[in-house]
Amino acid sequence: MSVNYNNETKTFTLTGKNLCYAFWINDLGYPEHLYFGAPIGSDDLRFTRAFGATSMAATPPGIDNVPSYNAYPSELSFFGTGDYREPAVQVVNPSGDRLCELLFDSYEVVSLKPKISGMPSLDGGETLIIHLKDRLNRFAADLYYTVYDDCSVIARRAVYKNLGASEIRLERAYSFSLALPDRSYEMLSLYGVWAKERHIDRIPLHHGVVSIDSKRTTSSATLNPFMALLRPDTSESHGEAIGVNLVYSSSYVLKAEVNPDGTTQLTGGINDFDFNWKLAPGEEFETPEAVIAYSDEGIGGMSRAFHDAYREHLINKRFVKSPRPLLINNWEATYFNFDVPKLCAIADAVNGLGIDTLVLDDGWFGKRDNDTSGLGDWVVNTEKLHGGLKAIIDHVHSLGMKFGLWFEPEMVSEDSDLFRAHPDWTIGVPDRKRCYSRHQFVLDLTRKDVRDHIVKAVSDIIENNEIDYVKWDYNRNVTESWSYCLEAERQMEFAHRYALGFYDICERIVNGHPDVFFEGCSGGGARFDPAVLYYFPQIWTSDDSDAEERTKIQYGTSVVYPLSSMSCHVSVCPNHQTNHTTPFETRAIIAHLGATGYELDSTRFTEEEKAAVKRQTEAYKKSEDLVLTGDLYRIDSPFETEFFTEAIVAKDKSKAELICYRRFSSINNEIKRVKMAGLDPQATYRLEEKGIVAKGSTFMNVGFAPDFPRHDFYALKYHFTEI
Ligand code: GLA
Repeated sequence: MSVNYNNETKTFTLTGKNLCYAFWINDLGYPEHLYFGAPIGSDDLRFTRAFGATSMAATPPGIDNVPSYNAYPSELSFFGTGDYREPAVQVVNPSGDRLCELLFDSYEVVSLKPKISGMPSLDGGETLIIHLKDRLNRFAADLYYTVYDDCSVIARRAVYKNLGASEIRLERAYSFSLALPDRSYEMLSLYGVWAKERHIDRIPLHHGVVSIDSKRTTSSATLNPFMALLRPDTSESHGEAIGVNLVYSSSYVLKAEVNPDGTTQLTGGINDFDFNWKLAPGEEFETPEAVIAYSDEGIGGMSRAFHDAYREHLINKRFVKSPRPLLINNWEATYFNFDVPKLCAIADAVNGLGIDTLVLDDGWFGKRDNDTSGLGDWVVNTEKLHGGLKAIIDHVHSLGMKFGLWFEPEMVSEDSDLFRAHPDWTIGVPDRKRCYSRHQFVLDLTRKDVRDHIVKAVSDIIENNEIDYVKWDYNRNVTESWSYCLEAERQMEFAHRYALGFYDICERIVNGHPDVFFEGCSGGGARFDPAVLYYFPQIWTSDDSDAEERTKIQYGTSVVYPLSSMSCHVSVCPNHQTNHTTPFETRAIIAHLGATGYELDSTRFTEEEKAAVKRQTEAYKKSEDLVLTGDLYRIDSPFETEFFTEAIVAKDKSKAELICYRRFSSINNEIKRVKMAGLDPQATYRLEEKGIVAKGSTFMNVGFAPDFPRHDFYALKYHFTEI
């Protein structure tokens, strides 16, 4: 990886693994984008400049007969001086004008990547910082670019500064602009809802803006903070793919805009809807990081770029590649209806089966026998749990297992001691009634006193009990965004301040307990984003635990996020969400494509089921390193076919697994041939289950027919070993 500056051509060239990014400082001092794509020669790229659609263009201020700012591929579009594209930044100056003209001032290259204060970001790489200044010296922007030699991503962000003597207001403060050379792109995004998270959408761009966003003060299940631009012929394994993913957990926006000159501009960051930010003299505003992946090996190549980036530079190094807790969770087994003997029995029933952790879910605290009360009262309910948590923990530990506990730290029930004591700690406007959602309200994390209380309450439980694992849930979206503690003209800072508050309590609770393993969750997988992954090495992917539905949810999630980040559980059938009945083995094979566990009443296991669980966990442990560190190749999409086929291949290509799933069995089937992917074409492999020995190239080009029996919802797993 390298950052180079050519003084003669005034060109910055950033070279990362399988990518190159170049821009130059043009004669106006404007950082003009030149190239983003596959590695190229270190040539003077200015011959590639081209201008189109210039009629009615406004020149830069004060200079006649020069192309407009609108005409230059931008590193950071700004508003009011002739650029009519979506600006990345808009200020309101003391006089009420909204102009800024951000031109090159200086640059620096740093080898230790600067952190963003109060926000998670990637580490490592080499970073270029471009300092831009407004002509009037009242406002500045620093553009950060980081490249890596071990993953094909570039990390971008901006920092905005008030250099003047008076307060200014930021009306929009996006993280980046990215200029693309033409308009021949389609947008791929991940949409969803509770129990149907991260399904795939793909639509062509058109003249104007195509955008996705969240206005929910969370990254949301509705649209993941991710957008990919693909060439129309880009497939899973071929063609160009550019993906952008925001390391951010609050309201965001991503936009792809096709301009009259036939170019495309990608931009985004914090959602400017319902946002503005007061910037006092001398103050700066840091934006969240945008991770931009490039691949010329299709959507799959882009996914592997994100997976590598997150495993190497985002997720907690202590846990990211270590074996995960193989747990049993009591939620679908008992819901709120449990006591100490029942929980101990659940643990006893899996003793010796390879399950190493019992996670006690919702309902152990306050007055919480259903979801109408108790949130916020993080005090053990000893009426329900005689002997307290200690009774369960001692028992679980005596079995050699670890113990995990559920929290929903950001929430409060109306019927709770916390709400009765501090109604003003809840988000809401005092003279209006509040919206309920799952009968609960959201605590105002913009307030330090509220955050301090949460940190203490959760930490006390963790520290006064032997807790090895925490599941951190977040089960509703914010409404009535308003805080008692913000002055009126700062209320539109709320959504971002909530994110900062969330990161603050994560920093103190998660990083404050480095030996405890934390899992993220949000009514299933509604807050599945890189910022959460920074604190929580894995996230509950969806409350839909049906294997058939999970093929889609996990396939879509893997477009951006590594398998090891997805929590996937084997649950009971008929499935509680869909009523489907799928084979036990299928449920295990699909759930083992992630950080796995079981979520059913193990006290009802038959001897046969116990033997199956033992077999399954042994198999999982043998291939866990592939889940944690391997390369994922998606082969058949469950969105487009009856099949879900994926391969995970070791980085050194010495072994691989192939997972083949068929939705429905039918009579006189067409032949289904699966071509393996990701093997070393020259190496020789043994396909263990069939005893076949062949070259990687043979398995990848000729393929073979998986042995699907006459059964619906059937999954098979094959192992390849290099010999
Ligand atoms: C959410 C989670 C579930 C479970 C319940 C408990 O829905 O996604 O896994 O923890 O909350 O209330």
